[in-house]
Amino acid sequence: MDTVLSGIRPTGRLHLGNYFGALKNFVKMQHENRCFFFIADYHSLTTHPDPVHLHDNVRNALSEYLAAGLDPEVATIYIQSDVPQVAELSLLLSMHAYVGELERTASFKDKIRKHPDNINAGLLNYPVLMAADILLHRAKYVPVGKDQEQHLEMTRRFARRFNQIYNVDFLPESEPYNFGHELIKIPGLDGNGKMGKSEGNGIFLADTDDAIRKKVMRAVTDSGPTVPNQQMPEPIANIFTIMKVVSSADTYDHFLAAYNDCSIRYGDLKKQLAEDIIQVVAPIRARIEDIRSNEAYLHKVVTEGAERARASADATIKGVREIMGIKPF
Ligand code: TRP
Repeated sequence: MDTVLSGIRPTGRLHLGNYFGALKNFVKMQHENRCFFFIADYHSLTTHPDPVHLHDNVRNALSEYLAAGLDPEVATIYIQSDVPQVAELSLLLSMHAYVGELERTASFKDKIRKHPDNINAGLLNYPVLMAADILLHRAKYVPVGKDQEQHLEMTRRFARRFNQIYNVDFLPESEPYNFGHELIKIPGLDGNGKMGKSEGNGIFLADTDDAIRKKVMRAVTDSGPTVPNQQMPEPIANIFTIMKVVSSADTYDHFLAAYNDCSIRYGDLKKQLAEDIIQVVAPIRARIEDIRSNEAYLHKVVTEGAERARASADATIKGVREIMGIKPF
């Protein structure tokens, strides 16, 4: 079994796009690999130091991923700060990370542009801490989106450099985990691009039935088809793409035929879509709420997760210390 690791930002809520995209794959992936999933709370401090909300954000992220199907009996699920070994590995790796290359990281330059008043060293060191997350378990694969590819590339560079400097073959060069064609892309409701975090574009797993209905009814459409079998403009095609995933084949075919013979009424289409989305989301939302308020269960999950993660981390730290010449008396 290969070791796979994924880091989860404790900001932002999961939406339908996450659910049918990466998450479905995570749920499958956990059975085929030795998986680690962790909530990156240290990382969130680089931009969102917020002692009032941090714990709730972590709890929400954890509850949502568990509700969506990550299984703590199968995968190791933990909170980053419960495994402080990662901080030691980050420190040790930072000795071979050059300030120049860190300053050239796209995400760092982006932060400088957006928040010139808060360019802290944690932000500069972000790729090193992320490399430490990954190398702590010597993970072979990491599922990453486009925005994280450069960080993973830097992780490989740090690992390669470490092995070269100390003339060892200890840290792996972690590669992107490829879902390939299995990754379904869910579009947003505002007519352009994929589903994201912005209100009006995304449906969240924690949304109430009413919120879902309102959002779907407000989805962007057009004035309707005028010629039989005409090509769908993007906003309409997007609605059908979502319908394909959440509705029955009969429902989908019914509305497609209505579009093609120009008899479609978008109000009916949206009503049906909203109800079918609710069928998917409502049970997940109920599980999120159950889990979020179940202190004993959450405590058990993170305690057992941290134990397993620490055991794996200790083995790596022991090796790195030895290689770097840190020896016990
Ligand atoms: N940087 C990632 C993000 O913003 C989160 C993350 C932190 C991560 N450490 C990681 C992802 C390690 C994968 C592996 O989404």
